[in-house]
Amino acid sequence: MLSPGCSTPQSQEYSFLPWVEGYAVGHDGLDTEHRRLVEIINEIHVAQQTDPAPARINTLLDMLHQETVDHLRHENSAMREVSGKVALEKGSHPAALKMMSDAVLDEHIAEHARSLQKLAFIIRSFGPESNAPSGELGDLLKDWFIEHAIKYDAHLKAVFQAL
Ligand SMILES: [Fe+2]
Ligand SMILES: [Fe+2]
Repeated sequence: MLSPGCSTPQSQEYSFLPWVEGYAVGHDGLDTEHRRLVEIINEIHVAQQTDPAPARINTLLDMLHQETVDHLRHENSAMREVSGKVALEKGSHPAALKMMSDAVLDEHIAEHARSLQKLAFIIRSFGPESNAPSGELGDLLKDWFIEHAIKYDAHLKAVFQAL
């Protein structure tokens, strides 16, 4: 059972939102964080099925929000680092330079702000102050994560590979 501050048990497999390699971007730290977000979303789903006490789900939602804030901050700094590196060594990383232009970087960072707002909205809709039935919570969080990892982060894998 996942508890605040524990590390991600790599052996744990979930059926609700199984880990797939498509969620990895080829950066150890960011991928560990993606795994952790997947794990928390799965634990929320498990809690809804087996232990729907609001306190447990609220604790997990707080964890998901905080770890998302940390992850997006880390991802922003990792992208800025890549951008600075390819700008300094233009000739060495032409492919990465193209894929990590200032416009792409700015748009990706702006998307993180939107993603965090969306998560906060979902959490508010189902959190302690809300009377909304929590049946859809897991599905909304799953869609939210897949949008982050597949729609927006997938291109990072090509960037990291091009370095
Ligand atoms: Fe990410
Ligand atoms: Fe991202």
